Amino acid sequence: MSKVTSSTLMKFKQEGKKFTALTAYDASFAGAFDSEGIDVLLVGDSMGMVLQGHDDTLPVTIEDIAYHTACVRRGIKRSLLIADMPFMSYATPQQTMDNAAKLMQAGANMVKVEGGHWLLESVKMLTERGIPVCAHLGLTPQSVHVFGGFKVQGRDADNAQRIMDEAKALQAAGAQLLVLECIPAALAKSITEALAIPVIGIGAGADTDGQILVMHDVLGISSGYIPRFSKNYLKQTGEIRSAIRAYIEEVADGSFPAEEHIFN
Ligand code: KIV
Repeated sequence: MSKVTSSTLMKFKQEGKKFTALTAYDASFAGAFDSEGIDVLLVGDSMGMVLQGHDDTLPVTIEDIAYHTACVRRGIKRSLLIADMPFMSYATPQQTMDNAAKLMQAGANMVKVEGGHWLLESVKMLTERGIPVCAHLGLTPQSVHVFGGFKVQGRDADNAQRIMDEAKALQAAGAQLLVLECIPAALAKSITEALAIPVIGIGAGADTDGQILVMHDVLGISSGYIPRFSKNYLKQTGEIRSAIRAYIEEVADGSFPAEEHIFN
C-alpha cells in the first residue's frame, strides 16, 4: 500500500482513473476512510458548519484547522492529507507563509486556498518554499457574503471565462491540484481538459478527475439539509464503511454524480 501523493493524483488523471476525496476532522473517521480507500482527505473549514454549528465557514481559525489536521494525521496511513487555510489566514503572502507552515507542521501534505488572481503571488511563494497548494474556485464559501448566498458560480459567459483564466493562472503559479465547487458541469469539463493538474469537483459535474464530498452529507448527519449535489450513502447501505465503499465505487464507475446532482 503506497501513500497517495500529488504524483499519484497526476498519474490517475493521465490514466483517466477517477479518484475520491472526503472531508475528515478526527482520527477515527479518517482512519476508516483511509482504510476503505479514499485517496484524499480534506480537513475542511466546513468544520465551521458541520462541527461548530455556525451558518458559514468564516469563524474557523488556523488553530482549529491545525488541531484537527493533527488528529486526522494520527489516524491515517495512505491518503493524501490537505488542510484548509481558513478565512483571513492568507490575506497577505507573509501571513500565508506563516499559517501554511503551521498546517504542514501539524501533518498536512498540502494546503488549500480559496480564490483566483489575487492569490498568484502567494501560491508561487508557497510552492517555491516547499508547500504544495490546492487551489479552490467557483463557489468559494469564504466569499459567501460577496456572492450574496451559497449560489452556483460561472453561469454567465464573463464569469465562466474568468474562472477558466484563473484556473490556468493558478496552475502556472504552481498549484498542484484544483477544487471546483458548484459551477456548471460543462465549464468544469472544459477546465479539467484545459489543465494538466488534477481537478476535484463538488457540484461540478461528472467530468472532473476526482470528486469530493463533506463526510456529514455522505453519512446523512448534516444539520438541516443535504445539498442537492451531494448524496447520503449511509441511507442506501446502512453501515458507515459500506457507505464509503459505495461512494468510491460510484465515482469510479461514473454513476456519481448523476444528473440530479449536476448544475447546468
Ligand atoms: O471546507 C470544505 O469542506 C471544502 C470542500 C467542500 C471542498 O472546502
